[in-house]
Amino acid sequence: MNNTEDISPESFAISGGHRPSDALNSIKPPIYQTSTFQFNTAEEGKAFFEQAAGQGSLEERNNSLIYTRLNHPNAITAEKRLARLDGAEDAAFFSSGMAAISNTILTFCHAGDLLLLSSPLYGGTDAFIKKHLVDYDVQWLEFEPGANAEEINLLVANHPRKDQLKMIYLETPANPTLSLTDISMLDQLRKEWQRKGEEIIIAVDNTYMGPIFQKPLSHGADINLYSATKYLGGHSDLIAGAASGREQHIKLIKSKRTLLGSLISPFTAWLLSRSMETVNLRMEKQAETASILAKHFKKHPKISCFYHLDLLPEQHKDQALFKKQYTSGGAMMAFEVKGGEAEAFRFLNALRIAHLAISLGSTETLASHPYTMSSSNMAEEDRLKNSITPALIRVSVGLENVKDLIKDFEQALAQV
Ligand SMILES: Cc1ncc(COP(=O)(O)O)c(C=O)c1O
Repeated sequence: MNNTEDISPESFAISGGHRPSDALNSIKPPIYQTSTFQFNTAEEGKAFFEQAAGQGSLEERNNSLIYTRLNHPNAITAEKRLARLDGAEDAAFFSSGMAAISNTILTFCHAGDLLLLSSPLYGGTDAFIKKHLVDYDVQWLEFEPGANAEEINLLVANHPRKDQLKMIYLETPANPTLSLTDISMLDQLRKEWQRKGEEIIIAVDNTYMGPIFQKPLSHGADINLYSATKYLGGHSDLIAGAASGREQHIKLIKSKRTLLGSLISPFTAWLLSRSMETVNLRMEKQAETASILAKHFKKHPKISCFYHLDLLPEQHKDQALFKKQYTSGGAMMAFEVKGGEAEAFRFLNALRIAHLAISLGSTETLASHPYTMSSSNMAEEDRLKNSITPALIRVSVGLENVKDLIKDFEQALAQV
Protein backbone atom coordinates (compact mmCIF):
# COMPACT_ATOMS: atom_id res chain seq x y z
CA MET A 1 0.00 0.00 0.00
CA ASN A 2 1.43 3.40 -1.01
CA ASN A 3 0.81 6.90 0.42
CA THR A 4 -0.58 5.59 3.69
CA GLU A 5 0.05 8.68 5.82
CA ASP A 6 -3.48 10.08 5.64
CA ILE A 7 -5.57 6.90 5.87
CA SER A 8 -7.26 5.80 9.07
CA PRO A 9 -5.78 3.01 11.25
CA GLU A 10 -8.76 0.77 10.39
CA SER A 11 -8.09 1.09 6.65
CA PHE A 12 -4.34 0.65 7.18
CA ALA A 13 -5.04 -2.56 9.14
CA ILE A 14 -6.69 -4.07 6.04
CA SER A 15 -3.88 -3.74 3.49
CA GLY A 16 -1.07 -1.76 5.17
CA GLY A 17 2.40 -3.12 5.76
CA HIS A 18 2.35 -5.25 2.60
CA ARG A 19 3.14 -4.23 -1.00
CA PRO A 20 1.70 -6.72 -3.54
CA SER A 21 4.50 -5.81 -5.95
CA ASP A 22 7.01 -7.28 -3.44
CA ALA A 23 5.24 -10.67 -3.66
CA LEU A 24 4.18 -11.56 -7.24
CA ASN A 25 1.26 -9.10 -6.87
CA SER A 26 -0.32 -11.29 -4.21
CA ILE A 27 -3.04 -9.22 -2.50
CA LYS A 28 -2.43 -11.04 0.78
CA PRO A 29 1.08 -11.39 2.18
CA PRO A 30 2.61 -14.81 1.54
CA ILE A 31 3.91 -16.75 4.56
CA TYR A 32 7.71 -16.45 4.49
CA GLN A 33 8.42 -19.90 5.87
CA THR A 34 12.20 -19.63 5.91
CA SER A 35 14.82 -19.52 8.65
CA THR A 36 17.37 -17.43 6.75
CA PHE A 37 17.55 -14.81 3.97
CA GLN A 38 20.08 -14.63 1.12
CA PHE A 39 22.23 -11.48 0.83
CA ASN A 40 22.73 -10.12 -2.70
CA THR A 41 26.35 -9.30 -1.88
CA ALA A 42 28.68 -9.66 1.12
CA GLU A 43 28.63 -5.85 1.40
CA GLU A 44 24.85 -5.97 1.76
CA GLY A 45 25.16 -8.65 4.48
CA LYS A 46 27.63 -6.40 6.37
CA ALA A 47 25.29 -3.41 6.08
CA PHE A 48 22.31 -5.47 7.28
CA PHE A 49 24.23 -6.55 10.38
CA GLU A 50 25.15 -2.93 11.12
CA GLN A 51 21.48 -1.97 10.83
CA ALA A 52 20.38 -4.89 13.01
CA ALA A 53 22.86 -3.62 15.64
CA GLY A 54 20.83 -0.41 15.79
CA GLN A 55 22.17 1.83 13.03
CA GLY A 56 19.97 3.43 10.37
CA SER A 57 16.26 4.18 10.28
CA LEU A 58 13.37 1.92 11.30
CA GLU A 59 12.54 1.38 7.61
CA GLU A 60 16.17 0.35 6.91
CA ARG A 61 16.13 -2.05 9.87
CA ASN A 62 12.83 -3.53 8.65
CA ASN A 63 14.36 -4.06 5.21
CA SER A 64 17.53 -5.77 6.50
CA LEU A 65 16.35 -9.35 6.48
CA ILE A 66 18.98 -11.67 7.96
CA TYR A 67 17.59 -14.57 9.99
CA THR A 68 14.08 -15.37 11.26
CA ARG A 69 14.99 -15.08 14.96
CA LEU A 70 15.81 -11.38 14.30
CA ASN A 71 13.11 -10.32 11.87
CA HIS A 72 10.90 -11.53 9.03
CA PRO A 73 8.37 -9.95 6.61
CA ASN A 74 5.28 -11.44 8.30
CA ALA A 75 6.27 -9.92 11.67
CA ILE A 76 6.94 -6.56 9.99
CA THR A 77 3.49 -6.48 8.35
CA ALA A 78 1.80 -7.28 11.68
CA GLU A 79 3.97 -4.72 13.53
CA LYS A 80 3.16 -1.92 11.08
CA ARG A 81 -0.57 -2.63 11.43
CA LEU A 82 -0.49 -2.71 15.24
CA ALA A 83 1.65 0.43 15.47
CA ARG A 84 -0.91 2.28 13.36
CA LEU A 85 -3.86 0.98 15.41
CA ASP A 86 -2.14 1.99 18.67
CA GLY A 87 -0.92 5.39 17.46
CA ALA A 88 2.66 4.17 18.13
CA GLU A 89 5.91 4.73 16.22
CA ASP A 90 6.69 1.01 16.17
CA ALA A 91 5.52 -2.35 17.53
CA ALA A 92 7.13 -5.71 18.29
CA PHE A 93 5.44 -9.10 18.16
CA PHE A 94 6.35 -12.08 20.36
CA SER A 95 5.66 -15.80 20.66
CA SER A 96 3.22 -15.17 23.57
CA GLY A 97 1.80 -12.43 25.78
CA MET A 98 4.08 -13.60 28.60
CA ALA A 99 7.09 -13.34 26.23
CA ALA A 100 6.12 -9.71 25.43
CA ILE A 101 5.67 -8.88 29.13
CA SER A 102 8.80 -10.62 30.48
CA ASN A 103 10.96 -9.38 27.57
CA THR A 104 9.80 -5.78 28.14
CA ILE A 105 10.38 -5.87 31.90
CA LEU A 106 13.83 -7.44 31.40
CA THR A 107 14.70 -4.71 28.88
CA PHE A 108 14.23 -1.89 31.41
CA CYS A 109 14.71 -3.45 34.88
CA HIS A 110 18.06 -4.65 36.22
CA ALA A 111 19.47 -5.92 39.53
CA GLY A 112 18.93 -3.30 42.25
CA ASP A 113 15.84 -1.76 40.58
CA LEU A 114 12.28 -1.31 41.82
CA LEU A 115 9.03 -1.95 39.92
CA LEU A 116 5.76 -0.25 40.93
CA LEU A 117 2.65 -2.35 40.15
CA SER A 118 -1.09 -1.87 39.98
CA SER A 119 -3.12 -4.74 41.41
CA PRO A 120 -4.42 -7.26 40.66
CA LEU A 121 -2.28 -8.37 37.71
CA TYR A 122 -2.83 -11.31 35.36
CA GLY A 123 -1.68 -14.45 37.27
CA GLY A 124 1.29 -15.18 34.95
CA THR A 125 2.59 -11.61 35.21
CA ASP A 126 2.10 -11.65 38.97
CA ALA A 127 4.08 -14.90 39.26
CA PHE A 128 6.86 -13.71 36.90
CA ILE A 129 7.42 -10.52 38.92
CA LYS A 130 6.86 -11.82 42.45
CA LYS A 131 8.39 -15.31 42.17
CA HIS A 132 11.04 -15.09 39.42
CA LEU A 133 12.22 -11.52 39.00
CA VAL A 134 13.07 -11.30 42.71
CA ASP A 135 15.79 -13.93 42.06
CA TYR A 136 17.45 -11.29 39.84
CA ASP A 137 17.23 -8.69 42.64
CA VAL A 138 14.40 -6.67 41.10
CA GLN A 139 11.99 -5.71 43.89
CA TRP A 140 8.33 -4.77 43.52
CA LEU A 141 5.83 -2.60 45.30
CA GLU A 142 2.11 -2.60 44.59
CA PHE A 143 -0.73 -0.16 45.16
CA GLU A 144 -4.32 -1.16 45.82
CA PRO A 145 -7.10 -0.66 43.25
CA GLY A 146 -8.50 2.86 43.65
CA ALA A 147 -5.40 4.25 45.44
CA ASN A 148 -5.04 8.02 44.89
CA ALA A 149 -1.90 10.00 43.93
CA GLU A 150 -1.14 10.93 47.53
CA GLU A 151 -1.30 7.30 48.73
CA ILE A 152 0.89 6.06 45.85
CA ASN A 153 3.39 8.87 46.42
CA LEU A 154 3.66 7.94 50.09
CA LEU A 155 4.09 4.25 49.29
CA VAL A 156 7.01 4.97 46.94
CA ALA A 157 8.56 7.60 49.24
CA ASN A 158 8.73 5.04 52.07
CA HIS A 159 10.48 2.34 50.00
CA PRO A 160 14.27 2.00 50.49
CA ARG A 161 14.70 1.64 46.71
CA LYS A 162 12.60 4.71 45.83
CA ASP A 163 15.52 6.18 43.86
CA GLN A 164 15.86 2.99 41.80
CA LEU A 165 12.25 3.01 40.53
CA LYS A 166 12.63 1.97 36.87
CA MET A 167 9.20 0.91 35.74
CA ILE A 168 5.53 1.45 36.54
CA TYR A 169 3.60 -1.60 35.36
CA LEU A 170 -0.17 -1.22 35.08
CA GLU A 171 -3.04 -3.47 34.05
CA THR A 172 -6.25 -1.55 33.45
CA PRO A 173 -9.02 -2.64 33.50
CA ALA A 174 -7.69 -5.33 35.81
CA ASN A 175 -8.58 -8.96 35.33
CA PRO A 176 -11.19 -10.14 36.36
CA THR A 177 -13.15 -7.46 38.26
CA LEU A 178 -12.37 -4.53 35.94
CA SER A 179 -10.88 -2.13 38.48
CA LEU A 180 -9.44 0.96 36.74
CA THR A 181 -6.10 2.77 37.07
CA ASP A 182 -5.62 6.36 35.91
CA ILE A 183 -2.63 6.27 33.52
CA SER A 184 -2.24 10.06 33.34
CA MET A 185 -2.12 10.26 37.16
CA LEU A 186 0.85 7.85 37.13
CA ASP A 187 2.43 9.85 34.30
CA GLN A 188 2.18 12.99 36.44
CA LEU A 189 3.69 11.18 39.46
CA ARG A 190 6.58 9.74 37.48
CA LYS A 191 7.43 13.23 36.18
CA GLU A 192 7.79 14.30 39.82
CA TRP A 193 9.87 11.19 40.70
CA GLN A 194 12.10 11.14 37.63
CA ARG A 195 15.69 12.05 38.32
CA LYS A 196 17.82 13.88 35.74
CA GLY A 197 18.81 11.52 32.95
CA GLU A 198 16.96 8.57 34.52
CA GLU A 199 13.83 7.46 32.72
CA ILE A 200 10.95 5.74 34.55
CA ILE A 201 9.03 3.68 31.98
CA ILE A 202 5.25 3.28 32.16
CA ALA A 203 4.02 0.01 30.63
CA VAL A 204 0.32 -0.88 30.39
CA ASP A 205 -1.14 -4.32 29.75
CA ASN A 206 -3.92 -3.30 27.32
CA THR A 207 -5.13 -6.84 26.56
CA TYR A 208 -8.71 -6.23 27.74
CA MET A 209 -9.44 -3.05 25.75
CA GLY A 210 -6.84 -2.47 23.09
CA PRO A 211 -6.28 -1.48 20.42
CA ILE A 212 -9.83 -0.20 19.93
CA PHE A 213 -11.23 1.00 23.28
CA GLN A 214 -8.13 2.24 25.14
CA LYS A 215 -5.03 4.07 23.83
CA PRO A 216 -2.58 4.11 26.79
CA LEU A 217 0.11 5.95 24.81
CA SER A 218 -2.14 8.99 24.45
CA HIS A 219 -2.55 9.10 28.27
CA GLY A 220 1.19 9.15 28.99
CA ALA A 221 2.21 5.47 28.86
CA ASP A 222 5.44 4.54 27.05
CA ILE A 223 4.73 0.89 26.25
CA ASN A 224 1.47 -0.76 25.36
CA LEU A 225 1.52 -4.53 26.02
CA TYR A 226 -0.76 -7.29 24.80
CA SER A 227 -1.54 -10.89 24.98
CA ALA A 228 -2.20 -10.95 21.21
CA THR A 229 -3.69 -14.40 21.84
CA LYS A 230 -6.83 -12.47 22.83
CA TYR A 231 -8.62 -9.74 20.79
CA LEU A 232 -5.78 -9.09 18.32
CA GLY A 233 -5.78 -12.77 17.28
CA GLY A 234 -9.46 -13.04 18.12
CA HIS A 235 -10.21 -16.64 17.10
CA SER A 236 -8.67 -18.85 19.87
CA ASP A 237 -6.29 -20.30 17.28
CA LEU A 238 -2.92 -18.75 18.14
CA ILE A 239 -0.63 -17.73 21.02
CA ALA A 240 1.21 -14.41 20.62
CA GLY A 241 2.13 -11.16 22.36
CA ALA A 242 2.97 -7.59 21.41
CA ALA A 243 4.48 -4.33 22.61
CA SER A 244 4.10 -0.93 20.95
CA GLY A 245 5.46 2.53 21.71
CA ARG A 246 8.18 4.99 20.69
CA GLU A 247 10.83 3.78 18.27
CA GLN A 248 13.68 4.32 20.80
CA HIS A 249 11.98 1.98 23.33
CA ILE A 250 10.80 -0.66 20.87
CA LYS A 251 14.33 -0.81 19.39
CA LEU A 252 15.69 -1.82 22.83
CA ILE A 253 12.87 -4.34 23.30
CA LYS A 254 13.60 -5.85 19.88
CA SER A 255 17.31 -6.30 20.64
CA LYS A 256 16.41 -8.15 23.85
CA ARG A 257 13.89 -10.20 21.84
CA THR A 258 16.66 -11.32 19.48
CA LEU A 259 18.77 -12.50 22.43
CA LEU A 260 15.90 -14.24 24.21
CA GLY A 261 14.69 -15.77 20.93
CA SER A 262 11.05 -14.83 21.50
CA LEU A 263 10.05 -13.41 18.08
CA ILE A 264 6.66 -14.55 16.75
CA SER A 265 6.73 -17.25 14.02
CA PRO A 266 5.91 -16.36 10.37
CA PHE A 267 2.64 -18.32 10.35
CA THR A 268 1.38 -16.84 13.62
CA ALA A 269 2.32 -13.32 12.45
CA TRP A 270 0.45 -13.99 9.19
CA LEU A 271 -2.65 -15.09 11.15
CA LEU A 272 -2.42 -11.91 13.24
CA SER A 273 -2.15 -9.62 10.20
CA ARG A 274 -5.31 -11.32 8.92
CA SER A 275 -7.05 -10.92 12.30
CA MET A 276 -6.16 -7.24 12.71
CA GLU A 277 -8.23 -6.54 9.57
CA THR A 278 -11.38 -7.23 11.62
CA VAL A 279 -10.34 -6.37 15.18
CA ASN A 280 -12.41 -3.16 15.31
CA LEU A 281 -15.55 -4.87 13.95
CA ARG A 282 -15.21 -7.84 16.29
CA MET A 283 -14.54 -5.73 19.38
CA GLU A 284 -17.39 -3.28 18.68
CA LYS A 285 -19.91 -6.10 18.17
CA GLN A 286 -18.66 -8.14 21.17
CA ALA A 287 -18.86 -5.05 23.40
CA GLU A 288 -22.39 -4.29 22.19
CA THR A 289 -23.52 -7.84 23.05
CA ALA A 290 -21.74 -7.72 26.45
CA SER A 291 -23.51 -4.47 27.31
CA ILE A 292 -26.92 -6.01 26.47
CA LEU A 293 -26.12 -9.10 28.57
CA ALA A 294 -24.88 -7.02 31.52
CA LYS A 295 -28.03 -4.87 31.54
CA HIS A 296 -30.23 -7.95 31.20
CA PHE A 297 -28.63 -10.00 33.98
CA LYS A 298 -27.47 -7.38 36.52
CA LYS A 299 -30.59 -7.81 38.67
CA HIS A 300 -31.11 -11.55 38.12
CA PRO A 301 -32.28 -13.21 41.37
CA LYS A 302 -29.43 -15.78 41.23
CA ILE A 303 -26.74 -13.10 40.76
CA SER A 304 -25.47 -11.09 43.72
CA CYS A 305 -23.00 -8.75 42.02
CA PHE A 306 -22.25 -7.84 38.37
CA TYR A 307 -19.10 -6.27 36.93
CA HIS A 308 -19.23 -4.59 33.50
CA LEU A 309 -17.98 -1.06 32.90
CA ASP A 310 -21.26 0.06 31.29
CA LEU A 311 -22.93 -0.62 34.63
CA LEU A 312 -20.83 1.92 36.59
CA PRO A 313 -23.34 4.27 38.28
CA GLU A 314 -23.04 7.98 37.31
CA GLN A 315 -21.92 8.84 40.86
CA HIS A 316 -19.27 6.03 41.02
CA LYS A 317 -15.74 7.28 41.76
CA ASP A 318 -14.39 5.60 38.56
CA GLN A 319 -17.00 7.17 36.24
CA ALA A 320 -14.91 10.23 35.27
CA LEU A 321 -11.85 8.03 34.70
CA PHE A 322 -13.90 5.59 32.60
CA LYS A 323 -15.09 8.44 30.36
CA LYS A 324 -11.57 9.90 30.05
CA GLN A 325 -9.67 6.69 29.33
CA TYR A 326 -12.11 4.39 27.47
CA THR A 327 -14.46 4.61 24.51
CA SER A 328 -16.50 1.51 25.43
CA GLY A 329 -17.25 -0.78 28.36
CA GLY A 330 -15.66 -3.64 26.37
CA ALA A 331 -16.69 -7.28 26.08
CA MET A 332 -15.38 -8.65 29.38
CA MET A 333 -17.69 -9.10 32.34
CA ALA A 334 -17.80 -10.98 35.62
CA PHE A 335 -20.51 -11.76 38.14
CA GLU A 336 -21.00 -13.53 41.43
CA VAL A 337 -23.73 -16.13 41.66
CA LYS A 338 -25.55 -16.40 44.98
CA GLY A 339 -23.71 -19.08 46.94
CA GLY A 340 -20.10 -20.19 46.47
CA GLU A 341 -17.93 -22.53 44.42
CA ALA A 342 -20.59 -25.29 44.15
CA GLU A 343 -23.18 -22.86 42.73
CA ALA A 344 -20.64 -21.29 40.36
CA PHE A 345 -19.62 -24.75 39.11
CA ARG A 346 -23.30 -25.68 38.58
CA PHE A 347 -23.69 -22.62 36.33
CA LEU A 348 -20.49 -23.38 34.39
CA ASN A 349 -21.30 -27.08 33.95
CA ALA A 350 -24.76 -26.24 32.57
CA LEU A 351 -23.61 -23.89 29.76
CA ARG A 352 -24.50 -25.13 26.26
CA ILE A 353 -23.41 -22.32 23.92
CA ALA A 354 -20.74 -20.53 25.93
CA HIS A 355 -17.64 -22.70 26.41
CA LEU A 356 -16.13 -23.51 29.80
CA ALA A 357 -12.54 -22.41 29.13
CA ILE A 358 -10.00 -19.78 30.18
CA SER A 359 -8.65 -17.14 27.77
CA LEU A 360 -10.68 -14.31 26.26
CA GLY A 361 -11.22 -12.08 23.26
CA SER A 362 -12.33 -14.76 20.82
CA THR A 363 -15.32 -15.11 18.51
CA GLU A 364 -16.86 -17.74 20.84
CA THR A 365 -18.07 -16.86 24.33
CA LEU A 366 -15.83 -18.25 27.06
CA ALA A 367 -16.75 -18.62 30.74
CA SER A 368 -14.40 -19.53 33.56
CA HIS A 369 -13.87 -19.57 37.33
CA PRO A 370 -10.97 -17.19 38.16
CA TYR A 371 -10.70 -18.31 41.83
CA THR A 372 -9.73 -21.90 40.89
CA MET A 373 -8.38 -21.25 37.36
CA SER A 374 -6.62 -18.13 35.97
CA SER A 375 -6.05 -16.49 39.40
CA SER A 376 -5.50 -19.73 41.38
CA ASN A 377 -1.76 -19.09 41.79
CA MET A 378 -2.42 -15.78 43.62
CA ALA A 379 -2.30 -15.90 47.43
CA GLU A 380 -5.80 -16.53 48.91
CA GLU A 381 -5.61 -13.21 50.75
CA ASP A 382 -4.81 -11.32 47.51
CA ARG A 383 -7.65 -13.06 45.66
CA LEU A 384 -10.20 -12.11 48.29
CA LYS A 385 -8.83 -8.56 48.61
CA ASN A 386 -9.43 -8.16 44.87
CA SER A 387 -12.99 -9.60 45.00
CA ILE A 388 -11.91 -12.86 43.32
CA THR A 389 -14.27 -15.04 45.35
CA PRO A 390 -15.35 -18.69 44.93
CA ALA A 391 -18.73 -17.44 43.57
CA LEU A 392 -17.19 -15.35 40.78
CA ILE A 393 -17.64 -16.26 37.08
CA ARG A 394 -15.72 -14.46 34.33
CA VAL A 395 -17.20 -14.20 30.84
CA SER A 396 -15.55 -13.12 27.60
CA VAL A 397 -18.43 -12.34 25.26
CA GLY A 398 -18.11 -13.58 21.69
CA LEU A 399 -19.95 -13.02 18.43
CA GLU A 400 -22.91 -15.37 18.91
CA ASN A 401 -26.44 -14.02 18.59
CA VAL A 402 -27.25 -12.21 21.83
CA LYS A 403 -30.64 -13.96 22.10
CA ASP A 404 -28.91 -17.36 22.14
CA LEU A 405 -26.55 -16.20 24.88
CA ILE A 406 -29.42 -14.85 26.99
CA LYS A 407 -31.22 -18.19 26.71
CA ASP A 408 -28.04 -20.09 27.54
CA PHE A 409 -27.27 -18.00 30.65
CA GLU A 410 -30.93 -18.16 31.79
CA GLN A 411 -30.98 -21.96 31.65
CA ALA A 412 -27.55 -22.24 33.33
CA LEU A 413 -28.63 -19.85 36.12
CA ALA A 414 -31.72 -21.99 36.65
CA GLN A 415 -29.29 -24.77 37.75
CA VAL A 416 -27.77 -22.59 40.49
C1 LIG B 1 -4.40 -9.63 30.80
C2 LIG B 1 -3.45 -10.69 30.31
N1 LIG B 1 -2.16 -10.37 30.09
C3 LIG B 1 -1.27 -11.30 29.67
C4 LIG B 1 -1.64 -12.62 29.43
C5 LIG B 1 -0.60 -13.62 28.97
O1 LIG B 1 -0.75 -13.87 27.61
P1 LIG B 1 -0.36 -15.25 26.88
O2 LIG B 1 -1.25 -16.32 27.42
O3 LIG B 1 -0.60 -14.93 25.43
O4 LIG B 1 1.08 -15.50 27.17
C6 LIG B 1 -2.97 -12.98 29.63
C7 LIG B 1 -3.39 -14.37 29.39
O5 LIG B 1 -4.49 -14.78 29.72
C8 LIG B 1 -3.90 -12.00 30.07
O6 LIG B 1 -5.19 -12.30 30.30
